[in-house]
Amino acid sequence: MDKLQILGGTPLVGKVKIGGAKNAALPLMAASLLTDSALTLHNVPQVSDILSMKKLLTELGVEVGMDIPGALLSLSAKNIVNKTAPYDLVRKMRASILVLGPILARTGQGCVSMPGGCSIGPRPVDFHLAGFREMGAKISLHQGYIEAIAPSGLKGAEIQLPIVSVGATENLMMAACLAKGTTIISNAACEPEVMDLAQCLIKMGAEIEGIGTGTLKIAGVTSLKGTEHTVLPDRIESGTYAIAAAITHGCVELLGTRIHLFSGLASKLASAGVLMSAGENGVRVEVPRGIKRPLAVDFETGPYPGFPTDMQAQMMALLTVSDGVSRITENIFENRFMHVTELGRMGADISVKGNTAVVRGVGRLRGAPVMATDLRASVSLLLAGLVADGETTIHRVYHLDRGYERIEEKLRNCGAKIERLRQ
Ligand code: EPZ
Repeated sequence: MDKLQILGGTPLVGKVKIGGAKNAALPLMAASLLTDSALTLHNVPQVSDILSMKKLLTELGVEVGMDIPGALLSLSAKNIVNKTAPYDLVRKMRASILVLGPILARTGQGCVSMPGGCSIGPRPVDFHLAGFREMGAKISLHQGYIEAIAPSGLKGAEIQLPIVSVGATENLMMAACLAKGTTIISNAACEPEVMDLAQCLIKMGAEIEGIGTGTLKIAGVTSLKGTEHTVLPDRIESGTYAIAAAITHGCVELLGTRIHLFSGLASKLASAGVLMSAGENGVRVEVPRGIKRPLAVDFETGPYPGFPTDMQAQMMALLTVSDGVSRITENIFENRFMHVTELGRMGADISVKGNTAVVRGVGRLRGAPVMATDLRASVSLLLAGLVADGETTIHRVYHLDRGYERIEEKLRNCGAKIERLRQ
């Protein structure tokens, strides 16, 4: 297993090219199952979750062509030869559940292994299944597999999501595109990745209203056609590098991204003393000379446009070296403080009670060997390592590789002292 070795203390100065959003590319890839003609995706990030989804779709019979340099994917689900997403693939990537809606809508049946939980929480899929049932599907569970059938096709339904769910909104929206009649999804997610998927579905011939609001209205059509679509920039990658610039007191230009995608984070960073300004090529991030340490900030995570849960760990890393006390409340996942103990081993002063963490800023962090546990926790340890005294070694960086493309290269290009030790 590869490790990353970081020598802290260098302010990051330079430019970082932001890639396409992993959490948009994954549902967009699943949408290829909705049509028998080619779907071409541009600006696809080269991260391992994309390769996992490619492997799963290939298993189902989708022809997937990948042009690495161009970050281009061409997908053609002309013949779906298999309707089962196997456990060994699904357990590696929970987003595999997103093939169920499209395959059920296209073929009238689908079988996907229950995704199971992960380190940040049990991650149930009950909202997905309840929605499919309301659309007329018969859902049963056998030996850890979800078996769904809708022999006479899905029908439009009025679906109220109990809490905002990105995946359930995406899965049900894709299924509704080919249902007979109109589907209303209330309390729908409005994340930019959900909106990007909806825009692509419309280009494929879907009829969707209410994009970006909490209520989606989808009028089912008999078939969808292929199209070309460019994946939107990754707002979480953008925010991660913004914090890398802030924590090292550097100045970085994020190329190819847009500040309105992460306004919730930008306003909290501004409260911490970090300046972010939109330029013609992207977003400039810097810390004014007069601000020696980040200012303490309280925040809580919430559905878009609130503070994204996928940025909670990274913001916590920044606040560990702030000049005061910050309170962080995690409202989305049950166990998303796995990074706290590892940050503590680097000298951070954090106490957790329920879903709230209290961070008391310290003057210095100390480099240490640390263990990655999940995608965003591992990048928060890397951010801490960029500012810590001495050397930090991050083990199990395969977690990082799921969602960050060439992270050590992008950081080295801005002056970071970071190496990947291939094991
Ligand atoms: C998506 O996960 C993202 N993943 C996550 O990013 C992100 O953290 C999350 O949305 C929230 O923004 C992808 O897009 C591939 P949810 P998803 O359904 O769809 C509960 C990363 O680091 N829930 O919005 O699985 C659930 O347990 C990943 O890139 C149910 O109870 O998240 C959670 O508490 C991590 N039943 C809450 O809803 C359900 O059927 C929100 O989850 C579905 C969800």
